Amino acid sequence: MIYLDNAATTWPKPQQVVMAIEEALVHKGGNAGRGGHGAAMQMARLIYQAREDLCSLFGTNDPTRVIFTQNATHALNQALFGLLQQGDHVITSSIEHNAVARPLWALKQRGVEVSEVPGVPGKEFDLEAYCKAFRPNTKLVVTLHASNVTGTLLPVQEIGQIAHEYGAYYLLDAAQTAGVFPIDMGRLAVDLLAFPGHKGLLGPQGTGGLIVKPAIRLEPLIYGGTGSLSEEDRQPSFLPDALESGTLNGAGIAGLGAGVRYLLKEGVDKIRAREQALCRNLWNGLREIPGVTLYGSDMVEQQSPIVAFNIGELDSVAAGFILEEKAGVIARAGLHCAAHAHRMLGTLDQGVVRFSPSHLTSEEEIKATLLAVKRVAEELG
Ligand SMILES: Cc1ncc(COP(=O)(O)O)c(C=O)c1O
Repeated sequence: MIYLDNAATTWPKPQQVVMAIEEALVHKGGNAGRGGHGAAMQMARLIYQAREDLCSLFGTNDPTRVIFTQNATHALNQALFGLLQQGDHVITSSIEHNAVARPLWALKQRGVEVSEVPGVPGKEFDLEAYCKAFRPNTKLVVTLHASNVTGTLLPVQEIGQIAHEYGAYYLLDAAQTAGVFPIDMGRLAVDLLAFPGHKGLLGPQGTGGLIVKPAIRLEPLIYGGTGSLSEEDRQPSFLPDALESGTLNGAGIAGLGAGVRYLLKEGVDKIRAREQALCRNLWNGLREIPGVTLYGSDMVEQQSPIVAFNIGELDSVAAGFILEEKAGVIARAGLHCAAHAHRMLGTLDQGVVRFSPSHLTSEEEIKATLLAVKRVAEELG
């Protein structure tokens, strides 16, 4: 198998991650925050360590404001439903993943006003259009950091600054960039950062989080036991307990912490440079194959490590199926939970085939992949 679907979830995970999960499951069995006994305390320490590791990676310094969730979708829902109420206005981009588009649709049914600023992946984004979208009741701007269809980066520093100039918060969906690009919350005008643990951070599935800057209050998405203030019916108001009801994924979070430490040691820039070099090989190789259409920009080194393409008129899902059947190449084909982005790209009917290598992918695997695409294209005529 040649696994080129790291934008969906990274695989394989570093050995350190696997060992940290095993260590937590085998040796640290307690339930963090549930009781003061040694086993609970050991798990609590592992979880707190992961909060600290995430603070180091994301340039922030309050581990209690790192909220663990099941994935990026959960974190985005917590931020959106926790902040927006009937009568509020929110601005978003036209290339969002359904993790943002669908909660916003649901909020619209509850009386939240939503504006979508047009932009095409791979083309320059119109910041003036963001400025024009503000209304007196605009509370939030939410965008992804990089498109999960083409890897195109949004000008997030500028968008965040604009949001602040108009008195709105900025929620960043870092699903494709956490652990891939440096994200410094001390420098960026980002108020809420949603991230998955299982993609660029190299942790296991079932992990993710939301970082909330000081002075922002979110209504909980779910209520329940936190191991704190148990005598009260009211949900604790302090973080992280306010937004972390129920037992956490302790072993998964220990693995996520190990993934973050691996990144801090190896270096995010070094890992991304390796992935972008592999994407450069893919882009240049695919460009030479007659019948192949590439999407997004050819400035592969300035985007997240994704290459999107189609082979002639062949349905992208069929192309993905053939690549796996004939050459064991694993790609993600179809709409990538991002119909809005495909509408902008003009690929809503065909979808696209997406390759996303890992830093552990070899050059030989990339060569074999290009050969496989060439064969499919030749057979199509
Ligand atoms: C841009 C973007 N946002 C959100 C998500 C959702 O992430 P998760 O599967 O961790 O909920 C994804 C997943 O691919 C994504 O690419």
